[in-house]
Amino acid sequence: LWKKELTNILGIQYPILQAPMAGGITTSELVSAVSDNGGLGMVGAGYMTPSQLQNQIKDIKKRTQRKFAVNLFVPNEFYCTEKEMLDGYKLLEPYRSLFSLETYNPEVMPGEKARKMFHDQINVLIEERVSIVSFTFGLPPKEILTLLKEQGITIIGTATTVQEAVFNEKMGVDAIVAQGSEAGGHRGSFQENEDSGMIGLMSLIPQIADSVTIPVIAAGGIMDGRGIAASVCLGAEGVQMGTAFLTCHESGAHPIHKEAILNSSEENTTMTKAFSGKWARGINNKFIKDFQDKQHFLPPFPVQNTLTKEIRSASKARNNPEYMSLWSGQSPQLAKKLSVPELMEELIRESEKLLNK
Ligand SMILES: Cc1cc2nc3c(=O)[nH]c(=O)nc-3n(C[C@H](O)[C@H](O)[C@H](O)COP(=O)(O)O)c2cc1C
Repeated sequence: LWKKELTNILGIQYPILQAPMAGGITTSELVSAVSDNGGLGMVGAGYMTPSQLQNQIKDIKKRTQRKFAVNLFVPNEFYCTEKEMLDGYKLLEPYRSLFSLETYNPEVMPGEKARKMFHDQINVLIEERVSIVSFTFGLPPKEILTLLKEQGITIIGTATTVQEAVFNEKMGVDAIVAQGSEAGGHRGSFQENEDSGMIGLMSLIPQIADSVTIPVIAAGGIMDGRGIAASVCLGAEGVQMGTAFLTCHESGAHPIHKEAILNSSEENTTMTKAFSGKWARGINNKFIKDFQDKQHFLPPFPVQNTLTKEIRSASKARNNPEYMSLWSGQSPQLAKKLSVPELMEELIRESEKLLNK
């Protein structure tokens, strides 16, 4: 049932990918448990320094012999003047005083620095011989892709439209994540007009599957065997699940974040740019509501993300769910408090039952 191109190129038993989730969620325990149970554990390394990434890779290798993957954010070109940055900072001042945070002079982070860090992350992956790498927010330049290919590394890209999927295939990517608008966290979009699109997974899978020859991995709102079976029926060979793994015991998500998902309904998530300057889906809270009408004036990613960092951390530290990002897909009602082996067992049993019918 599962022996197809995707499981073959990734070297895994079941085509169930634990979504990379940047920000401390994808602990070594989580990643290794998913891989050890036949799926693919993935590290969300987007915000990690090269040395943090290297340490975690070493730690995972001690825990599992199986394959795992690392996901990186492709640095975007952004434009933000000193004034735009200061205006953005001013909007955040009331929240800084709420948490008694000291004022500081924000500085525009040069894009050069982000690109340097990205190159250093890539070098760590090569040095540590990580065999599968995934990208979101676009693809790195051809030279980097070629370098990874020369090392025998399998590359996974992310697409939110058919056009983005076709671009990924042309660039030589080995498999593509079709990320529907149901998905929790940041949209991987890099070509769509940021205010348009929002294509749901049921539309996206078959249209991408018809347009590329590489295996398609479905992502967005998939929480159980029904979602896996439906994705396969629509033309995907596998799935990438974030929210479902976030509430597992092994995940490093803040307890407040886990509880928020476990207590939410499908009506509680919304799209926002408030936390990072890039569209992302999370559970609605005070901070998102306050910025509802100001989203178009905020500094771009990653500037806004840097500006809100201390506020998000302070909110977390005080167990206050109102000022931290509570990323979640659109199916929180299906989230469960389980261990990874329990969740994997359920996913495989349910999807096999449906697909063997
Ligand atoms: C908390 C959280 C963090 C995420 N971080 C990343 C990330 O670092 N890189 C990435 O490619 N996708 C990230 N995503 C998106 C996932 O890859 C995936 O598209 C999404 O989780 C699918 O929707 P679901 O949460 O309903 O399963 C994140 C999702 C969540 C919920």
